[in-house]
Amino acid sequence: METKQWTENGIKEAAQVLKDGGLLAFPTETVYGLGANAIMSGAVQRVFDVKGRPSDNPLIVHVSSFEQVEGYVENLHPQAERLVNMYWPGPLTLVCQVKPDIFAKEVSAGLSTVSFRMPDNEMTLKLLKEAGVPAVGPSANTSGKPSPTTYEHVFHDLQGKIEGILDDGSTKIGVESTVIDVSDPNQSPMILRPGAITKEQIKQDLDIDVSYDKHLLKDSDTPKSPGMKYKHYAPDTNVLMVKEQDWDAAVRWVKENHLRAGVLASPAICDKVRANTAATFAYSDKSVKAATKGLYAGLRALDETPLHLDVILAATFPEENLGVAYMNRLKKAAAQEYFEG
Ligand code: TXA
Ligand code: MG
Repeated sequence: METKQWTENGIKEAAQVLKDGGLLAFPTETVYGLGANAIMSGAVQRVFDVKGRPSDNPLIVHVSSFEQVEGYVENLHPQAERLVNMYWPGPLTLVCQVKPDIFAKEVSAGLSTVSFRMPDNEMTLKLLKEAGVPAVGPSANTSGKPSPTTYEHVFHDLQGKIEGILDDGSTKIGVESTVIDVSDPNQSPMILRPGAITKEQIKQDLDIDVSYDKHLLKDSDTPKSPGMKYKHYAPDTNVLMVKEQDWDAAVRWVKENHLRAGVLASPAICDKVRANTAATFAYSDKSVKAATKGLYAGLRALDETPLHLDVILAATFPEENLGVAYMNRLKKAAAQEYFEG
């Protein structure tokens, strides 16, 4: 199958494909999603097949308004509407109780809840409005690989397997949305997956105390969000995390062992290590925001250099605010391993 590249003037055609049960990737502010009509079982099943996604990992339903969601959900959490008013369209996904038999059964992968999000991307909001159907949208990568933040990443993973890709350049944020469970109206909202909408920000903006799924902080237990238990976001090359104070020791180790190392870090660190490493990918500046935007692109770029790197060394950030999401993804890519100086 030829995978088409659509831009603004292809939205009508793309919407028809979506409505009819075809598969297309769409841009969002976080990462590109692999869209399919959430009502059609066959289309949703194909999403799992194309990604190679485990069938017990539920999908997020993407909508173009909150009114749409109100028609689907039951026992809406008292804080849900405040969260939506503050952050939609945006990188916030809400896990809700739903009325039976609306969505294809594959969407919720056996759970009684469905998660919703309204992405902050004009092309995709137009697409969803034009198609008039809710769309599942897992990240548009092969399962287990870093999520795609550009058209080229999607094309690399899914060319020939899907009908088309809506191209809107690079995504702004770089990691997937914050997933918050609001399915129990009697419990406080709980973060199942950290993202750009942070616990600290929600407290500040709305004075709502959200908790973290306690399994998020450990690696042994089964988390409440099924997607969090899989090896994820990982390039083929081994990744080691390097703490700020350990770069000198890491470079010495690389030199002594004649390793071909790739480095993913701030411009200043990349400058410092360049002479002794095979490849560097510098974030656009030293902020955690720039690091988060560049993380997946950097992992992919270093993984795919013809240099056949022995190891990728990636910079850590403090686990607070956006650093929680950055470190959550990096730790998975690195299988929890740090460079020990
Ligand atoms: O930013 C994003 O959320 C991107 C863009 C494309 O919108 N989408 C995305 O989808 O990351 P996906 O399928 O790669 O990740 C969905 C996450 C998984 O961790 C999944 O387990 C969790 O959300 N999830 C979905 N439905 C759930 C539910 N009903 N209960 C608990 N967790 C759920
Ligand atoms: Mg994903």
